[in-house]
Order: sequence, then C-alpha cells, then structure tokens
Amino acid sequence: MSAQADPVQDIAHLGNVELLTPKLDRSLWYFKDVLGMEVVHVAGSSAYLRGYGDHAASALKLTAAAQPGVGCISWRAVSPAALERRVQAIAATGRGIGWIDGDFCRGRSYRFRDPDGHLMEVYYDEQKFVAPDHLRSTLKNLPMRYTAKGVNVRRTDHLALLARDVPANRAFVQQALGFRLHEQVVFERGTKEIGAWLSPSIMHHQVAYVLDVKGGSGRLHHFSLWVDDRADVLRAADILAENGIFIEAGPSRHNNSQGFYLYSYEPGGNRVEVYSGSYLVTAPDWEPVTWNEEERGTGVYWGTALPESFLTYATPDIPAAAAAGARVPVFDPS
Ligand SMILES: [Fe+2]
Repeated sequence: MSAQADPVQDIAHLGNVELLTPKLDRSLWYFKDVLGMEVVHVAGSSAYLRGYGDHAASALKLTAAAQPGVGCISWRAVSPAALERRVQAIAATGRGIGWIDGDFCRGRSYRFRDPDGHLMEVYYDEQKFVAPDHLRSTLKNLPMRYTAKGVNVRRTDHLALLARDVPANRAFVQQALGFRLHEQVVFERGTKEIGAWLSPSIMHHQVAYVLDVKGGSGRLHHFSLWVDDRADVLRAADILAENGIFIEAGPSRHNNSQGFYLYSYEPGGNRVEVYSGSYLVTAPDWEPVTWNEEERGTGVYWGTALPESFLTYATPDIPAAAAAGARVPVFDPS
C-alpha cells in the first residue's frame, strides 16, 4: 500500500476545451450535424457547443484561427477555496499568467501554461445548462434531451496533448493541479517516459501527455468525446464514413486505458476520438501501471496496429517534418 502523491482533490474535472480551426463552418458542421452536439452560443469568431449529457452550458468552444490546434483548456475547481489553493500552487511554479474575467458560461479564471506551452485555466463559477423547451428531456436527471442526431456524443471525456518533455508536464499537473497518474509508458529500461495518463478524479484519464516526436510545442494529439457503449462507437464509424469523414483508426481497443476508440479528423484538421469503455480508478493506493516496449507492443489490445500517422500527425502540423517524409493523410473531404 502506497500513495503516489499528496491526495489533493481540488480539481473536479476537465471544463471547456477550445479547439482552433481554419474552417469554422465545416468544423461546426462536423460537431453539430455529424457528432450531434448542440450549438448554444455564438460570439465573434467562436461557437460554443455541448453534448446532451454535459452539465455546463458549454463544453466545447470552436474558434476560427489560421491553424488547427487546441486553444484554452479549462479545469473546474471543486470550490472557491480550492480554486484559490490551486492558483497559489500554479503561481508558485512561475507558470501563471493571471486572472481573466471569464468566458461564456464561466466566471473569473486564472490562466497559466503547462511546461510545454499549452494554455490552461482554472475556475469555479460556472453556468449550468438550463434546457429550453425544445431541448428538455423527459428524464429529470438529464440536462438535455437525447436528440438522436448523428453520433449523438454524450459529453467531453479527455484530451491527449503532445509534449517534448513528458515527465516535466506530468509532474507539473501532479504537483500544481493534484492530478493522479494512472498509467504511463516508459521505454529504454525505465529511463524514457513517452506517455502519461492522468486524472483529477476516478475517471481513468482526463489528460494524457505523449512525446512529440516532431519536437513541437503546445500541440494537440486528440480531443475525445464519450458515448455510452461500444455499439455507439461502431454506429459512429458508419455515420462518419457516410459523411465522407477520414477515419484514421478504429473502431478498436487500446491496451492502456482499455478504451474503445474511433479516431477521425474534423474538417479543420484536429483529431477527434469517439470513445467508450475504459475503467474507473477508485483505489486511493492505486499503483500507476507502467508499460515497457515489449508490454506496450502496438498500443492496441486486439486488432491492427495504429497507423504511422497516429504517431506523427498532430495539430498544428509541422510542415518541415511532413516534407521530410512523414505520412500526413488528407483529412478534409470538402
Ligand atoms: Fe483518447
């Protein structure tokens, strides 16, 4: 029996995630009509969306930008006091930026960057979703009706971020945010950490840091949305295919996380996962599961190996590496 870190429980969950897209209209079509999310607000060059099971008014912000990638990643604290504690811890690392007044559906937020440069913020005040009549569920405990539109993703699940230095970023979110490490991949006889899966809760992971093989910074590997079971993931594959969306990998199952996955590229270029399965970590003395080269294998539990693009493509892409021979598939059918 051992604890991996101080049991800080100040962060509740992943909050709003901002994705940047050079094709806002086409990305909106993908998330709204193909994945079945609801657009709840539009302001300037941004649109705010939600899954039917998301508690907050919005869980995803799409913002027009020159290149795809991830914008601001927000984390909700469990209380105002917890927010102040985390702000102090973040500021002590020297990575704090400062307070902003907030954004649609959430109050003041403290911004910072992780060691790799990803923009993040912590906040507490949030506007929960109150469904208008046409979106009200007959289930009292469901914030919005199941619309049966497209894939009909339920909620945000997690993010996978690339990093030049996985242990530095993993240690930062452990120490500054109190995340727990649930699994990791360490090669070269335990000396080279190339992946870490962490969570502020019993969810298996809400953020993963994976080695950026192109040496970039602040890049997004994928954004993941949850559906309730594997059949929904299989159905999603049919819907994506019929809409001409490039499917990069799956449906299949990872070995680490045990997640049942389907990866596609939204029209702006960001990799998006439709996800189910995985497992919860309730034990306070959970020992992080560490995979070496042999145990990791292809990274899948069964089925074919992940394609090379899964290792080399991220957003924003790095053209120099692409020009050097990395295989970057065409992702936009339009
Ligand atoms: Fe994932």
